[in-house]
Amino acid sequence: MSLKLAIGGKGGVGKTTVTSLLARCIADTNKRVIAIDADPVTNLAAGLGIDESKPIIPVSELKDLILERTGAVPGTIGGFFTLNPKVDDIPDRFSLEKDGVRLLVMGTVETGGSGCICPESTLLKALVNHLILNHNEVVIMDMEAGIEHLGRGTSGSMDGLIIVVNPGKRSRVAAEKIKKLGSDIGIKDIYVLGNRIKSEQDKDLIQESMKDFKILGLIPEYDEIANADREGVRPFDDISTIPEEFKTIVNKLLSK
Ligand SMILES: Nc1ncnc2c1ncn2[C@@H]1O[C@H](COP(=O)(O)OP(=O)(O)OP(=O)(O)O)[C@@H](O)[C@H]1O
Ligand SMILES: [Mg+2]
Repeated sequence: MSLKLAIGGKGGVGKTTVTSLLARCIADTNKRVIAIDADPVTNLAAGLGIDESKPIIPVSELKDLILERTGAVPGTIGGFFTLNPKVDDIPDRFSLEKDGVRLLVMGTVETGGSGCICPESTLLKALVNHLILNHNEVVIMDMEAGIEHLGRGTSGSMDGLIIVVNPGKRSRVAAEKIKKLGSDIGIKDIYVLGNRIKSEQDKDLIQESMKDFKILGLIPEYDEIANADREGVRPFDDISTIPEEFKTIVNKLLSK
């Protein structure tokens, strides 16, 4: 099997944390994982424990590659360029790997309005949408807060969308919007994942208020996550210490 998952949600709900922990747990089941950092404010590397002492060059800044694949100079708008650039070899050539997770950083594209068709955005879109996965590969994409990627079509080929929510009304309202956009672009499996659950009351709140969602799981508040963040290291460095909830969620996703 192969699987493409997008992780969305309101700002600060825990998308990057959840993406990196799920990516590590999926890799631990002997699948090859491609983790895509699709947030312009990139920080998935830190969550995965990937060394950032050498700056990671995002795909959107690989000017020669964009030129080679699209036939157009990045930064130009209009003109002719291929809308179907070859992308299959990009993960192998431009990702950084740790513990079986390969990280690809997409980077930002200065879009002049949502309809911008430029070589950079075309390559990024193709990268996500036409990435052909081999047997036993999983893509997991950490999106930026809100709905940008869903609106821009960088996530139309995803098999599943996991909307991370915290207990509370604002997160729920955002989840409903994200769900609608996700189903508009044809994503079949849309789940909600409760994060930072501090009490039974929080659990009940999510279960009660998210009745029209498939709840993928509920993740407690962990001191380890907050502490690791404070120290700038990845949480649960030893994979065997990653809490059971994450493994249960991975089993659910992979058994589909
Ligand atoms: N289960 C948890 N327990 C404790 N702290 C958590 C948990 N999940 C996330 N956090 C903390 O919440 C903060 C936000 O997490 P994270 O950066 O993963 O969110 P995000 O949704 O990716 O944010 P952004 O929208 O800015 O990209 C971080 O400080 C992180 O350590
Ligand atoms: Mg994030």
